[in-house]
Order: sequence, then structure tokens, then C-alpha cells
Amino acid sequence: MNDNVIPAELVEELRTAQRVVVLTGAGTSAESGVPTFRDAQTGLWARYDPTELATPEAFRRNPRLVWEWYTWRRELVAKAAPNPGHLALVQMQARVPELTLITQNIDGLHQRAGSQQIIELHGNLARTKCADNGYLVESWPPTEEVPPHCPRCGGLLRPDVVWFGEPLSKKTLLQAITAVRQCDLVFSVGTSSLVHPAASLPFEALEQGAKLVEINPDETPLTPHVHFVLYGKAGEILPTLVDLTWPQQKR
Ligand code: OAD
Repeated sequence: MNDNVIPAELVEELRTAQRVVVLTGAGTSAESGVPTFRDAQTGLWARYDPTELATPEAFRRNPRLVWEWYTWRRELVAKAAPNPGHLALVQMQARVPELTLITQNIDGLHQRAGSQQIIELHGNLARTKCADNGYLVESWPPTEEVPPHCPRCGGLLRPDVVWFGEPLSKKTLLQAITAVRQCDLVFSVGTSSLVHPAASLPFEALEQGAKLVEINPDETPLTPHVHFVLYGKAGEILPTLVDLTWPQQKR
């Protein structure tokens, strides 16, 4: 990653920003070996389209299949580690007065990297809830049943993630909208900017005068609207940006 891809103007914006928002998508975890949502699924799950599995209908139709798919993803994520892009965001958060991290990812890698003030728009794979009463369930008695049943009401257990066609938590969305409405600088990193309401958040920021940066190897529907486009991988661009903005004091 050569430094000249990052404009000095952006470095100055980041150095002087008071409130930064970073919106991340699956591309942020790609270099940790976690396939993006639109990557082809691998191995056993190759024949399934995620958009067919991550839905309430799929769970109603075949709860075992959906539960097993999330078990496979949990195991995949457990083997993954935060990559330099996740770690650069931790450093950025330590340097700017205020940084809110809004993620569409459910893999928990931002938490494992050490980021704080994280808004999980689409939930988290590591959490389980009752499909009937919505309670989070930390543990349940050993069982052969797949999915297991809620120890409180007997309903089926499911991952605490947002499926296609399901609403986001109003509280979470309000926190995200509040953050983008008050920030000076928004980074959209590793997201195809296709899924709303997440994809509309950068436009909320634009409306109130924030500067917009996109980090992605490809163009997205957001690209024509941003002030800075950095084409490339998050795991390469973010560390370079942080080093350029806050050069490590020579030891
Ligand atoms: P996608 O799979 O739609 O998009 C991943 C984006 O990351 C693409 O634009 C890639 O070009 C980009 N990308 C790939 N490798 C990258 C890298 N190394 N560095 C930076 N960018 C990279 O994933 P999302 O945009 O996150 O929602 O998908 C948004 C939502 O769609 C997901 O949260 C999921 C799905 O519906 C739910 O599950 C509710």
C-alpha cells in the first residue's frame, strides 16, 4: 500500500476531526478469513445462498438447518482473528476525541480487537435468544435437540442476529442515527452499501455537512457521493492512514 493513495487533505481532516463515525461491513473481516456476505459460501454450505438461510421463513421451515449454519459460522469466526484493519480502528479510537463504530458485522471481531462504543446494527453471532419471547439465553441444559429449546418457555433458540426482512432494534438504529447526525467525518469501510437502513447512514451524515470517506476495493452506490475514495483493502489502507495521521514517535 503506497502512501500516495491517501490524500494529505484526508490526513488533515482526520487529525482535526472531533467526532468520527466508522461504518463497517463484511469486507472489514475479509482479511481475517471470514467470507463476506456476498462471497461464495465454501464447502458444505456452498450450495446455499445466505439470503435463503438468514430469514425467519428459513428458520420456520427448517430450524435445524439454520441453526447448524450459524454453528458453522460461529466455529469459523472463533478460528478467525482481528486483522490489521480492526486493530487500526482501535488505534484511531484512541487518538480521536470521539469515535463511534457502527458495524453490520455479527462476528464480534471489533470487540475482540479492543474497539469500544460499538453499535451492532445486525446483532452478534455469539449471542442466542429465544425465537418466541426474545429473551437472551446464556446457557441451556445439554440436549440432543437441534435447535435447543428455551429453558424459560420451551420455544426454539436462535442466534441473536437480524435476518432479512426483520426490523433492526429501534434503540440501536436511533443510536446510529444520532451518531451520524453529530459527526464531522464518516468512514464507510468494507460494505457494499446495498442493505438499508445501514446504507442510508452515510447520507444522514452528508446532509449535516460531514465529510465522507469510502474504503473498498470496488465501487459501491455510495462512491459517487463521498469526498474521498480509497480503493483497496481495509487491512492495508486503515493502518497506513493511522500511521500517516499519527506518525509513531520514533523509539
Ligand atoms: P457484502 O458482502 O455485501 O459486501 C462486502 C463489501 O466489502 C464489498 O463491497 C466488497 O467489495 C468489500 N470488500 C471485500 N474485501 C474487502 C477488504 N479486504 N477490505 C475492504 N472491503 C472489502 O457485505 P456487507 O456490505 O457487510 O445483513 O453486507 C451488508 C449486510 O448484507 C450484512 O450485514 C447482512 C447482509 O444482508 C444481515 O445479515 C441483516
